[in-house]
Amino acid sequence: SAADNGSANPRDFVAKMKAGNKRLVIFYGSQTGTAEEYAIRIAKEAKSKFGLGSLVCDPEEYDFENLDTIPEDSCAVFVMATYGEGEPTDNAVQLMQNLADPSFEFSKGGRRLDGLKYVVFGLGNRTYEHFNVISKQTDEHLSSMGAHRIGELGIGDDDKSMEEDYLEWKDGMWEAFAREMGVEEGQGADSPDFAVSELTDANPEKVYHGELSARALTRSKGIHDAKNPFPARIKVSRELFSKSGERNCVHVELDIEGSGITYQHGDHVGVWPSNADIEVARLLCALGLYEKRDTVVGIESLDPALAKVPFPVPTTYDAVLRHYLDISAVAGRQMLNALAKFAPSPAAEEFLRKLGSSKDEFHAVVTDGCLKLGELLQLAAGDDIKAEPTPENTTKWAIPFDIIVSSISRLQPRYYSISSSPKLYANTIHVTCVVLKYQSIGDRVPERGIFGVGSNFLLSLKFAANGEEVPLSVGSQPATPLYKIEGPRGAHREDSIYKVPVHVRRSTFRLPTNPKSPIIMVGPGTGVAPFRGFIQERVALARRSIEKNGPEALKDWGRISLFYGCRRDDEDFLYRDEWQEYAKELQGKFSMHTALSRQKYRPDGSKIYVQDLIWEDREQIADAILNGKGYIYICGDAKAMSKQVEDVLARILGEGKGGSAEVEGAAEIKLLKERSRLMLDVWS
Ligand code: 2AM
Repeated sequence: SAADNGSANPRDFVAKMKAGNKRLVIFYGSQTGTAEEYAIRIAKEAKSKFGLGSLVCDPEEYDFENLDTIPEDSCAVFVMATYGEGEPTDNAVQLMQNLADPSFEFSKGGRRLDGLKYVVFGLGNRTYEHFNVISKQTDEHLSSMGAHRIGELGIGDDDKSMEEDYLEWKDGMWEAFAREMGVEEGQGADSPDFAVSELTDANPEKVYHGELSARALTRSKGIHDAKNPFPARIKVSRELFSKSGERNCVHVELDIEGSGITYQHGDHVGVWPSNADIEVARLLCALGLYEKRDTVVGIESLDPALAKVPFPVPTTYDAVLRHYLDISAVAGRQMLNALAKFAPSPAAEEFLRKLGSSKDEFHAVVTDGCLKLGELLQLAAGDDIKAEPTPENTTKWAIPFDIIVSSISRLQPRYYSISSSPKLYANTIHVTCVVLKYQSIGDRVPERGIFGVGSNFLLSLKFAANGEEVPLSVGSQPATPLYKIEGPRGAHREDSIYKVPVHVRRSTFRLPTNPKSPIIMVGPGTGVAPFRGFIQERVALARRSIEKNGPEALKDWGRISLFYGCRRDDEDFLYRDEWQEYAKELQGKFSMHTALSRQKYRPDGSKIYVQDLIWEDREQIADAILNGKGYIYICGDAKAMSKQVEDVLARILGEGKGGSAEVEGAAEIKLLKERSRLMLDVWS
């Protein structure tokens, strides 16, 4: 009861477990919320399978001394994401230190965890070198201290198969769990997480229409971070590709004046998008809520320990689907059986059950077809998913709204490398973003355009910000048929101006402070974004130094080389004219090496990429790194490009040391990374 907890130490999770009669404690190391969602799923499954309660914990809020006093009939679960280049998430730093630190003692004295039963599920991304190291370390530390793992170590790959990895792992884990915890399946029951009620008497001023924090309506300012993003006005928005045919790239300047937000070159900006009109309408129609879209709803958690309402309430059906839930994501397999019960026909039910029970079938139809939940419901019911959805052409399903709220993840911010420096632009954050659109594979599902949420959101705001109508097409492709002309509805609109909720995420991707150190930057495509900020940073420094020390001030500066790549110089060369201005101000210290992959070929017709230009420049590069204490930065595609660039660097450095790429080169690369002289900002 509340009274029992009142006097207890709030950082003591064992006391809380006992007070709440919970046999599982589940810690999540989570940066963006995915690990937290898996932690909650595990808690829910423990409840529905075995009737066992769980305490789901943010490790930052607890002390780990009493890890050795968890009762014997209980179990600790660790859901751990690996972040960046093999680091724990911010909220798991303390936990990982306690596990690793030989001088950290548990409450019984010493560092033994004999008798502790634990489960580990890790989240990582296989395109990164240090794949899932945090979950592996967690497992190693616990077992080396005598604790006993239940089931396999779960390893999830965020790059493509997280959901499948989890589903494949959990069955075996729960079997082992039942055996070792002495419990039987069937003791629990599926109970709803939320109660949804339609409100007729809500005060309109207290209704959330897309505000991302509860604070937004009370207008208490506070700091702006991931929990309280700032609605930024768009100051400038333009397209960067001169011949925008199938591809678009937008340059957006977000106004942060007066927000209290500061940033550094190399930081990331989190942009909180909203879902496209067409997808919101589709799901509203399929749920039979289209006419009621603006009805105010209250949503309450039926078990606040397990499931918090993931957005501020009261709100409306429309706002939930537009601003708060990730309805644009490809549908997950696990929700299908729960939804099948509410199918409008036996055929539709059968369709979902088949997909829910067969991984291959699911992959062929849903994953390959990039089917969102709304589209999947339409397809199952035999609707035309290529038509503009209306209540008339969309079959209604009787799915209770609480199930939608529990089965769809919260809409997350999209992160972009900031492409400006605060030294030149203190009041704006620049974003350079390729607009993502492609055709789905039309094997089992109608072929259609797939549009990335964040980038198309920004593109549509470009039109709205400039007072232009969204054109139906740009070149041969649909522009962004996703948002209506007036721009997205909701909270961030003031008069006709739509504001973009943003926050800054700090990074360690930074220039050395001393301008004498040579720097090498490699960023083809939008990988060049942070380097525009880097160069601006150096331009600002050059101006100051020249003002102070005269025209010779840059004499001792190190060489600044930028390796850039694009298709053609008259097509997709980003910021083509700006670089020359920067070069002038940097007085010959800055040189740009550009690989024009569809314009300048080798004599044999093969393409020339940044890594080839790096190889051509190998003497200077080896000198800069091995003798000049230089720094290397790589930004952009994690899959092919950054690996190939690292390979060529290993060759150059290996040769420079009189050895091989595999031995001396690899050792040098490792050393450079450890010393933060080789830094990556890559994405897949
Ligand atoms: P391509 O499209 O002609 O293959 C930005 O996207 C630039 O990066 C383009 O010029 C693109 O060339 C190039 N690129 C594609 N794959 C690459 C790789 N593996 N390494 C380096 N550059 C690459």
